[in-house]
Formats: sequence, C-alpha cells, structure tokens
Amino acid sequence: MKTLGIETSCDETAIAIYDSEKGIIGESVHSQMQMHAEYGGVVPELASRDHCSKIVKVLHDALGDTKLNSIDQIAYTSGPGLLGALLIGESFAQGLSTALNIPLISVNHLEGHLMSPMMEFDELDMPFICLLVSGGHSMIVDVKEKADYEILGQSQDDAVGEAFDKVAKMLDLQYPGGPHIENLAKNGKSNAYDFPRPMISSNDLNMSLSGLKTSVLYTIQKIENMNDQIKCDIAASFQQAVVDVLVAKIKKAVDQTGRSDVIVAGGVAANQFLREEFKKLENLLNINVYYPHMKYCGDNAAMIAFVGSKMQSKANDHSSKARARWPLDELQK
Ligand code: KG4
Ligand code: ZN
Repeated sequence: MKTLGIETSCDETAIAIYDSEKGIIGESVHSQMQMHAEYGGVVPELASRDHCSKIVKVLHDALGDTKLNSIDQIAYTSGPGLLGALLIGESFAQGLSTALNIPLISVNHLEGHLMSPMMEFDELDMPFICLLVSGGHSMIVDVKEKADYEILGQSQDDAVGEAFDKVAKMLDLQYPGGPHIENLAKNGKSNAYDFPRPMISSNDLNMSLSGLKTSVLYTIQKIENMNDQIKCDIAASFQQAVVDVLVAKIKKAVDQTGRSDVIVAGGVAANQFLREEFKKLENLLNINVYYPHMKYCGDNAAMIAFVGSKMQSKANDHSSKARARWPLDELQK
C-alpha cells in the first residue's frame, strides 16, 4: 500500500511516498529557510504563500517515476503549526484525495517526529521515551503505544531550538542558529562561562530555557570587546548548559518509567555534541538511544506518510482538521 504524505506546518514544503513493503520510495523537500533568514525567523504569511507556489513542483519531484494513480491514500499534517501554512497542505491534500477518490488521513506533526525512527530501525518498538526538541517544541513523551502518548515534561517557556536561535541572534549569527552555535562551540571552552541550568534538579521532568537565555544576554552585554574566541566560548558554554539539562531530565525519565529505549527527535537532534553526551548516558544506564536519519531530524513528509500508513481513514471525511494547537495527549486512538 502506498501512502503519500504532505507536510506544510512551518517552513518546509515536503511530500513523500511510503510503500508498506519497500519503505520510502520517493521524497522531496523545499526549505524556505533562506527566505526567512532575512527576517531572523519564520514569517507566517510568506510561509503560506511559498507553500502555495512550490507544492506542485514538490509533488512532481517526490513522485519521480511513481504514477499518481498508484497512490492508495493521502496523509497530511493538520497540526500543530502555522494555521495558514497548514491550510495550504490541507487544501492540496483534499484536492488530491477527491481527484483520485482515495482516503484522506489527518496526521499530528509531533506524532510524525515521535515515530520517525521506527521507519528506519526494525528492532525499535513501543514503548519508548521520546525527547522531542525542535524550534517550536521541547518535551519528553512516554510513547506507550500508537496514539497513547503521555507528556512527562516540557519546556515552561522557550523551546530548545528557539533558545539556540535566540542566542545565535545575540551573537550575530544567521537563522536558524542551532547549527551555527554548534560550529562555534567546537572551538570554544564549555566551562568558560558558568551559565545557569534552570530546573535541572527539580523533581519533575519540566524544563525552562528562558533564564539561561537571559543570562547569556546579560553576559554578552557586559563584554566590551567581543571577538571570535569569546563567541566560541559563549556558544560552547551555552550548548553545554542546555545539554546538561536534557541529559539530566532523560536520566530521570528513564529512572521513573523503567524504559530502555530513548528516541531523540526534532531539529535539535542533529546536534553532534548532544549525541556524544547521550552516548555516555547510553553506557551509564544501559539503554539504547536512537536518532532519526539526519534528513528526518527536521521537518519532513516521510514521517507523515509513515504515520498515515499506520492509520485508518474515516470514509469520505473531508472536513477541515487544520489547527494551530493540537497537543499529543489529545490524539484519538
Ligand atoms: O524540527 P525543526 O526542523 O523544525 C521545527 O521547529 O519544527 O527544528 C528546527 C530547530 C531550529 O530551532 C534550529 O536552530 C534547531 O532545530 N537546530 C539545531 C541544530 N540543527 C537545527 N539546534 C542545535 N544544533 C543543531 N545542529
Ligand atoms: Zn517539526
């Protein structure tokens, strides 16, 4: 069975085809990153317009030699995300589903991130813990079974990726800042600045990033002669503080749930320093830590097609499901 997945929740226009026997057989992503970089962040109206103008080409690229009429069902991201952007994907999905007379399935974007490593690692099965760290979300989820997700903890303010982006901006780096911070940090001393690790010792699995971000801001404001080495030291010290908190929280989550598999997903999962620190945790706690393939760490349609392939659609239900907010623990089984 072939499921065509469509993702337009933020700044990537993506389409992929998941074949239940062969896996992903076609995919294409158009990133709007360059366009938004000029503004230092995603501009919702521009995002919607760009999805609209690129989506047909992205479909053709994803299809390649696959015939459109061989697709069995359409899955699309209906939330959470930017409403205008979601509506472009939804309208396109509704149109395809009507024209081809095939089922339409609405998929939660976060569920796509949670389940993405399952399409790559055959040995991985639920239950597992997922640390989802992206530009918009930071949460620790107990993935018990399909559509049974318990949010164990989450950021009380900024998302982890957002904190990386904001600190990058303070250091005059381009959006999105995560990869730039990671690069600078390679040449910096991670103990040069003693930045706070908010909530690291709290009894729960919640996190907070805004105090850390403000501490970095005050530190930068006090520096009279900023230079490249100082920037590298700030980047390394900030990155260390963030990763220390994430490692401590995952350790606690493993203790609390007894799970032995951990997935780190979302754009920040691309960070190699984070991966090295989690490697140590793997050995210490005797757990397995999995990451999606680099191309599936950020937003993509493969994860949407994959989740859709596990779902049954309600016949002929073409009503709008697009919503900006759609918490994971409000999914229907
Ligand atoms: O999942 P994603 O592509 O989009 C959503 O937010 O849904 O995540 C993008 C976020 C950005 O904030 C970006 O700065 C961050 O992931 N990111 C990184 C790295 N690569 C991307 N953060 C830290 N280190 C990285 N290497
Ligand atoms: Zn995402």
